[in-house]
Amino acid sequence: MRPRRIFANCAGCHQPDLRGANEARPLVGPDFMRTWSGRTAQELVGFLSVTMPPPPAAPGSLGSQSYVNLAAFLLNANGASPSSGELTAASTVSIGSVATGTMSDAFRASLASAAPAAPAGAAAGRTGISVAGELSTFRPVTDAMLKRLPADDWLMIRGNYQAWNYSELNQITRANVGELRLEWIWAMTEGGWNEPAPVVHDGVLYLNNMGNVIQALDAATGELVWENRVGPLVPAGVAMRGIAIYDDKLFVATTDARLVALAARTGQIVWEAVIGDRIDTFIPRHSKSSPATSGSKGCPLRRPVRAPTRPPPARYRVNPARALEAAWAPR
Ligand code: HEC
Repeated sequence: MRPRRIFANCAGCHQPDLRGANEARPLVGPDFMRTWSGRTAQELVGFLSVTMPPPPAAPGSLGSQSYVNLAAFLLNANGASPSSGELTAASTVSIGSVATGTMSDAFRASLASAAPAAPAGAAAGRTGISVAGELSTFRPVTDAMLKRLPADDWLMIRGNYQAWNYSELNQITRANVGELRLEWIWAMTEGGWNEPAPVVHDGVLYLNNMGNVIQALDAATGELVWENRVGPLVPAGVAMRGIAIYDDKLFVATTDARLVALAARTGQIVWEAVIGDRIDTFIPRHSKSSPATSGSKGCPLRRPVRAPTRPPPARYRVNPARALEAAWAPR
């Protein structure tokens, strides 16, 4: 398989241009060279084979030749000329002797022109409502509730606009915390990192799973009320984060840069809008932040995908319009 195609397994974390993001270190430039210039190509192949992609992928999951190709790809990305000898898994050439840490214009151009590639093992499957259900009652979330959260609700990431992460509930105390028992368990979707910030309203917990799968659960019993596989059902390496609630809708920032409004009662999509450029349709993106609703304003805090060809609309500033809807809903 072509190295660039194999790199689709890495780009979700290290980014298509290799410059890294968060904990996933840059794979090009001084940072990379600091770690690797004194080591050999063989060591790089070995490192990749046992560690990348990280769990839940198994060590060596891409096949041994792929790791050799990937190591060559990384060296070329760091300025080693492709003609500096066929790389093998046993190559003891020092990385500092062939690579400079500077990406050539030609290499950069080839990355930019890379055809969109679906990562190997991308979860296939149907999107849309997969479990139909309806909440028997639903009280719309108002501006007043968001400003002064009802104690038994959790209406936004971090709990309130001040991000206190504090709950006024007082049933659990230092004295009785040791008596907590397991009430129910919910298995979330697999295949990557789950980093959700659920919201809770009137005893219903709304949850964002890997692959843009949104669920409403009865928080008392753990029973699923509805599920919408909004999709894309992307695989490992894509973290799903929060969702926002306002009025009668949930707002979800998907990994393909859409903002989707779901009816909180049923999970049905009410509207959706593209909020960022999708340079390559299926390189997965972390859904960086939860959207937040602020009374009559909305702010989808999702970072735009890399290298937009035009600035994202309104730079995700708070939009002076009624809810997210006015700002983003297609007319
Ligand atoms: C799920 C996210 C993720 C994926 C997918 C992933 N990596 Fe990583 N990678 C990381 C993280 C996090 C680190 C930092 C690990 C550490 O410092 O212990 C890392 C470190 C590395 C390093 C070491 C960088 C340095 O400066 O030492 C290399 C090289 C690397 N990854 C290459 C790859 C390649 C090639 C792939 C694809 C086969 C890949 N990674 C896939 C998250 C990822």
